[in-house]
Amino acid sequence: MHSLNIIGAGNLGRTLGRLWHERQVFRVGGICNRSLASAREAVAFIGAGSAATEIGAMAPADFWLIAVPDDHIEVAAQALAAHLQRLPQHAGANTPSPTSTPTPTPVVFHCSGAMASSVLTDCLPARIASAHPVHSFADPARSLHDLPGSYVALEGDASARSLLEEAFANLECSCITLTPEQKVLYHAGSVMACNYLTVLLDLSLRTFSAAGIDENTARQLLGPIVVKTAQNNIALGPQKALTGPLVRGDIRTVARQLDALSQLTESAPPITPPTLADAYRLLGKAALPLAQKAGLNADTAQKLHTLFDEQTRE
Ligand SMILES: NC(=O)c1ccc[n+]([C@@H]2O[C@H](COP(=O)([O-])OP(=O)(O)OC[C@H]3O[C@@H](n4cnc5c(N)ncnc54)[C@H](OP(=O)(O)O)[C@@H]3O)[C@@H](O)[C@H]2O)c1
Repeated sequence: MHSLNIIGAGNLGRTLGRLWHERQVFRVGGICNRSLASAREAVAFIGAGSAATEIGAMAPADFWLIAVPDDHIEVAAQALAAHLQRLPQHAGANTPSPTSTPTPTPVVFHCSGAMASSVLTDCLPARIASAHPVHSFADPARSLHDLPGSYVALEGDASARSLLEEAFANLECSCITLTPEQKVLYHAGSVMACNYLTVLLDLSLRTFSAAGIDENTARQLLGPIVVKTAQNNIALGPQKALTGPLVRGDIRTVARQLDALSQLTESAPPITPPTLADAYRLLGKAALPLAQKAGLNADTAQKLHTLFDEQTRE
């Protein structure tokens, strides 16, 4: 079994570490976080490994996962590169145990969606790659159950990709391959669908709250329709999934909603822009081309566009 060290065992690192340990995909070795308390928590969650706070103190491993926040990956990779230079394994002197598969040089990978593996260049001649699980690791305990079935976008060294594909297949995850050039826009697409959906739900809950509906009730109301809408979008595509006043051309309904949101903004300061009304306008404008493809006539679309362009009432 290959060994795995983790630098940065937060939400993602803990989840992957625990799943790979439980499914005996990797033998988890060192777990390095900034604070010892956090590293020990990660060891307890994973159920294996030894806590560290210095990359330079970590034992050799076949795989190194750098799962620190994106802005810290390069610095962590530089520290790891200096450490790898001092380890015999890096010079090709790896002597695997009889039960392990020999790896000529270690695999070093990160899980950022936006960055390519080139941020790990200092670690060469290690085999560098990036592996971005298209999953929201909001709560590691939930992710243990929810991650299987997700996709992972791989990029980088071919042999590292192949080994990582096998490791993720053991978590029931399917992989796709991306070029380094694709990563930023690929990730922006994921952010819009996943993170911005969360922002949209927050805006929705704030609007429900303004109507005097408490958050628990609102979340219960939204649960089935949000899940169903997501399923419709995946199954049918956005054009067929779009319903509601815009696609029906119900201009007066849209005007009344916009008016109510604008008044709300005025009557409940301090609300910093973008306000609920701003968000409603912007997304309404973004919806119009989709609504037109779904059958909204050009004249009504133009009237709605004009409505969304009007300034918030003084
Ligand atoms: N969260 C997601 O949904 C998600 C999804 C896909 C990909 N990713 C990617 O996964 C990576 C990690 O994200 P995350 O959400 O798991 O982050 P996170 O929960 O904030 O965890 C980051 C961990 O890195 C540790 N850390 C920070 N700087 C460090 C350093 N210089 N040396 C050692 N450890 C350090 C922190 O240690 P302390 O606890 O001691 O501060 C923390 O445990 C990122 O590249 C992100 O883009 C995340």
